[in-house]
Amino acid sequence: DVPERVTVKEVGPRDGLQNTAGTVPTATKIAWINQLGKTGVSYIEITAFVHPKWLPALSDGAEVACRIQREPGVTYAALVPNVTGLARALEANVDEVAVFMSASETHNRKNINKSLKETYPVLDEVIRTAAATGKKVRGYVSTVFGCPYEGEISVERVKAVTDRLLTMGVYEVSLGDTIGIADPRQTNEVLTELTRDFSTEQLALHFHDTRGMALANTIVGLTHGITTFDSAAGGLGGCPYAKGATGNVATEDLLYMLEKMGVSTGIDFSRFIEAAAYIDDIVQQPLPSRQLSMYFRE
Ligand code: HMG
Ligand code: MG
Repeated sequence: DVPERVTVKEVGPRDGLQNTAGTVPTATKIAWINQLGKTGVSYIEITAFVHPKWLPALSDGAEVACRIQREPGVTYAALVPNVTGLARALEANVDEVAVFMSASETHNRKNINKSLKETYPVLDEVIRTAAATGKKVRGYVSTVFGCPYEGEISVERVKAVTDRLLTMGVYEVSLGDTIGIADPRQTNEVLTELTRDFSTEQLALHFHDTRGMALANTIVGLTHGITTFDSAAGGLGGCPYAKGATGNVATEDLLYMLEKMGVSTGIDFSRFIEAAAYIDDIVQQPLPSRQLSMYFRE
């Protein structure tokens, strides 16, 4: 049994573009986000307000957030690591923010320069400050299924970090397969454990498709009743602090599968594929999306 309806959160403008070779002009990002906003998608992570030295590709976040056309019914979100990032996000009037940390000490240190213990008060301050201004906060846990530095991550560790984030006030935790190492059996094991402690509404899945396992893992997520999945148009992207990481599962590949399975998303497939084709042309590296290759590369 799978849910009748799921939410697909488009993270391409942030997770995809943060690690794309070559510069995508700000006006192009804005045009692309405007196009994505007209596909029926309900959530777009448009940029990150991290230190610009860490993600130079997203240093134009404020301009992007201020100049896009906001479609009704679409949440325009941004990733923030701390209150400095939150202040920049609020200044740019984003609808929602997402905080992030890793289940693995080493990846957390490489990604945000802190131990797990040092990270909690930083995120707590972000969540409190955001709540005081009426903004919702989403949480990410990275390296849930494995870490590029530490290897296997215990599900107990994942539970502990997820629990802390939810207790601090994030409305949902997106479980990140940062390096695309999860397989369906492991996904089943992790979700069996996590759904004992957390409701399916509190969990989302964020699969990078490094080894082509993302859709298979998604099916496992659906059978556990998970109803929120992150993806990136075209399968664009990677993580600059996780060696070998590639993009998120391609949104249009996910949409195709969900539509065939009778799971509705509210997203118009043909409009979405046009938006994916737009960014595929811009980045001039053939994106891994199967649906794009079916429609536009014959
Ligand atoms: P730090 O150097 O420890 O920061 O970096 P700090 O607090 O010591 O501050 C140092 C300087 O940075 C100060 O400036 C701050 O003001 C400034 P100075 O006084 O020296 O002039 N600063 C900032 N400037 C702009 N915006 C900010 C900001 N914060 C501090 N927000 C920090 C710590 C977290 C800032 C840094 O490590 C960082 O920016 N990391 C971001 C890494 C990143 O973006 N990774 C990719 C996204 S995560 C991901 O892709 C995984 C995910 O997709 C899920 C998955 O797939 O698993 C979400
Ligand atoms: Mg990611």
